[in-house]
Amino acid sequence: KTRQMKILCIGAGYVGGPTMAVIASQCPDIKVTVVDINPERIARWNSERLPIYEPGLDEVVRSARGRNLFFSTDIEAGIRESDMIFVSVNTPTKMFGTGAGMAADLQYWEKTARQIRECSNTPKIIVEKSTLPVKTAQAMKRIFDAGNHKTRFTVLSNPEFLAEGTAVNDLKHPDRVLIGSDTSPAGIRARESLVDIYARWVDRDRILTTNIWSSELSKLVANAFLAQRISSVNAISALCEKTDADIAEVTRAVGMDSRLGSKFLNASVGFGGSCFKKDILNLVYLCRYYGLNEVADYWEGVIRINEYQKERFVVNMLGNMFHTLSGKRICLLGFAFKAHTGDTRESPGIYIAKRLMEERAKLVVTDPEALENARFELQGVEGDVCYTEDPYAATDGCDAVALMTEWPQYAALDFDRIFRSMAQPAFIFDGRNILDHAKLYTIGFNVFPIGKPALTHFHDEPSIGG
Ligand code: NAI
Repeated sequence: KTRQMKILCIGAGYVGGPTMAVIASQCPDIKVTVVDINPERIARWNSERLPIYEPGLDEVVRSARGRNLFFSTDIEAGIRESDMIFVSVNTPTKMFGTGAGMAADLQYWEKTARQIRECSNTPKIIVEKSTLPVKTAQAMKRIFDAGNHKTRFTVLSNPEFLAEGTAVNDLKHPDRVLIGSDTSPAGIRARESLVDIYARWVDRDRILTTNIWSSELSKLVANAFLAQRISSVNAISALCEKTDADIAEVTRAVGMDSRLGSKFLNASVGFGGSCFKKDILNLVYLCRYYGLNEVADYWEGVIRINEYQKERFVVNMLGNMFHTLSGKRICLLGFAFKAHTGDTRESPGIYIAKRLMEERAKLVVTDPEALENARFELQGVEGDVCYTEDPYAATDGCDAVALMTEWPQYAALDFDRIFRSMAQPAFIFDGRNILDHAKLYTIGFNVFPIGKPALTHFHDEPSIGG
């Protein structure tokens, strides 16, 4: 009987947890251990209440946990016994020194690499799962090779393309799996062993192998293109609001061009999530490093439009609510950066909440999954804010509702009831264009979608002030 293969994943976050749960459930013969320096996170992965909300994740974890899926804080033991080590620690934007606010902060990565080197006494395949700047694998290899030469390390790049909110489905049915390696015999052998794992449930023609730098760069570029599509639509939404065009009609016409496709064309209050901004900043930093300033400026524009879109939303609220929000009660309907996740990192709701509190509005934040994280994001922010899970309690007595997250249940709320419980005139700002605007208007709301004409019951000229 052959020895059981052992996989370790360092970093039990939004990527490490779901990715390893799916590998373990697809490969019952492989032992998969996920470790983290954060003991509370590990305790939650071992509990009935997982640390992250993802549709379908509970079932996958329950099917494999204790059988061939383990969560632990013993990083060193995990390293010692493993054959293959995925590293999915966080790679936030560097906040100090050279590249502050732009480059990736690689301190967690380098610490992990050194720890792997110190604890290893058998050959290991190291898999970069985190999104890393081009050429990180090379730096890693140098750190590994600077150690004692009794053990051999082979570094692969295998960036993760899952989207939060659909992570389990994306992992089970990926559009593609990307594996970068060098072309040495050891590199090819390592690459093949990782291909063999994915091939258990992914068609071979969806498993792409490339050189390491292409693989690392592809992940940055994929996120940059996705974010660029959102900023392109949002930029046009501003123009639609000035003319009588409707962004939904425009994107429908544009998206039917088969070269463009209809997905990812919704206008909104702006994109969020832990990755888009960080990865574009990373790309921009790389371009500047290589003296490609025009290219850097181009991609930086994607972030600029996103900031503009968020600020525009606040200015629009202020302007339409008679240039003062002071003392007004405003409900943020949703706080997660998108539907079907509890993640609030870089959520547009954070910026909107802070700006509204600057205007001295009283906020009520509601979300079905993200309230714990919302509290964390807004802790220490000066102002009046409270939290409730019940959307009817949250909107009660409010002057305005600002929809931040496209939770489908929000489109199905009883807006007659909400309207009756609100202060008059009642305003609704739909930051995701998911509500039935004509119906809201008929109920009596003043309705402000993104990139479409506002529907208001005021028939005089708007007041100028503020
Ligand atoms: P996360 O912050 O949820 O998880 C990272 C985990 O690593 C944390 O639990 C942290 O405690 C742990 N950690 C940090 N240093 C460690 C160390 N030295 N030893 C052990 N554990 C350590 O981050 P997330 O969202 O899972 O992202 C991880 C990487 O994956 C990032 O590079 C990100 O860009 C990338 N990625 C994220 C996606 C997402 O949707 N969140 C999608 C695709 C890639």
